[in-house]
Amino acid sequence: MHSDERRTTALVEAAKAGDVHARDELVRAFLPLVHNIVGRALDGHADTDDIVQETMVRVLGGLPGLRDPARFRSWLVAIAMNGIRRRWRERRQAPVPGLDRAADLADPAGDFTELTILRLGLSGQRRDVARATRWLDEDDRELLALWWLEAAGELTRAELAEGLGVPPQHAAVRVQRMKERLETGRAVVRALDAHQRFGAHMARLVADRRAAPGDDVTSRMLAFPEPFTDEEYALDLMAVTAAGHLTTADWLGNSLRLMLTEDAFADSMAGGRRSVSEATTEVLWEDAPTQILAGRWAVRDTRLGGQHIRAGDMLLLGLGAANTDPLIRQGARNAHGGSGAHLAFSHGEYRCPFPAQEIAEIIVRTGIEVLLDRLPDLELAVPAGELVRRPSAFLRGTTSLPVRFTPVRTTGDLS
Ligand code: HEM
Repeated sequence: MHSDERRTTALVEAAKAGDVHARDELVRAFLPLVHNIVGRALDGHADTDDIVQETMVRVLGGLPGLRDPARFRSWLVAIAMNGIRRRWRERRQAPVPGLDRAADLADPAGDFTELTILRLGLSGQRRDVARATRWLDEDDRELLALWWLEAAGELTRAELAEGLGVPPQHAAVRVQRMKERLETGRAVVRALDAHQRFGAHMARLVADRRAAPGDDVTSRMLAFPEPFTDEEYALDLMAVTAAGHLTTADWLGNSLRLMLTEDAFADSMAGGRRSVSEATTEVLWEDAPTQILAGRWAVRDTRLGGQHIRAGDMLLLGLGAANTDPLIRQGARNAHGGSGAHLAFSHGEYRCPFPAQEIAEIIVRTGIEVLLDRLPDLELAVPAGELVRRPSAFLRGTTSLPVRFTPVRTTGDLS
């Protein structure tokens, strides 16, 4: 037995026998551990101190019944976890507090995540991990509170499993799943940060163009006679950039990928059997950048594709799937004959605005025409199977498209 464990066992035995000093010593020795577990699980919520106190009272009260003093730590962790779960249950049953009470419930100064970040001087990735914990649900937070201490060497895996009330193998699976969800939380944190930086950038752009208008999209928007606030302009610029940038880049990228990987596609373009415009329209049928983009809310109860949809439900429309609907395609590839009736730009009042579609079309067509003209021997630099798709259910494109080509001298007017 480790000397710390021996010391704890001796203290527990003395405390059980009624030694007041030993009881005080036990509380002093284990208070930080309990505070850490509860504080992390509740993210420093104002209830933390109550639960820590309640845990210590239960521990001291239950000591006479503890049969194996060597298991004191696991037993203590399990009591702390029960306290946390009890509080979560009570909170779920409690009526939702009014705004006036909300301030009392979460003590911002006691926010454990921020405190941890500050105290440990976390930066970069480690800071993101700490913030990502806010995106975990209660079960995962409870587990994380223990796992964090396991990682710091303060708890063993057996103690963690006991705290959760599950066998160690089960605990291993739960830790693995929790880590995966934590990874997702990190992605959310990074996306939210990026969104904030993006908003700040657009707000600066609007302020700059207000002060010194030029011949650009923002200045033209600002010159529009209807009164819009600068915040509305900044949000509009964000919407246009988000809606236009990656969609167009993916359209161009997917067209190039097909050109470089599918002989039939490349031959029909290079051989002039169809125009670049026809070929890129086919991409919108076969490999549209917009797989799922349009979010809609049902205004009334209805049935769609055999599913019951209630008023207020949110629907994500699978535009890419609709384009390859076997009822339309009837098994044939390219059965649409280059028609523009695909749903890649969505449909109806909120579809991609027609002028935007036209701009995208010009960018993609020009990009491909110039590329084919300047770099006729362009080829994929990696096997097609090694291309990596961006992990997104919404926009379809590859993370990169490595190519090889012979550099050529540019001709034309470079002045
Ligand atoms: C220069 C390029 C583009 C611009 C400026 C642009 C602009 C926009 C704007 C302003 C919206 C409305 C966003 C909103 O109100 O939330 C929109 C929606 C949309 N755009 Fe585009 N877009 C471009 C390229 C594309 C491309 C290449 C595609 C697909 C091939 C596309 C597909 C869509 C779709 C599916 C929507 C959603 C419509 C809906 O909610 O039903 N856009 N676009």
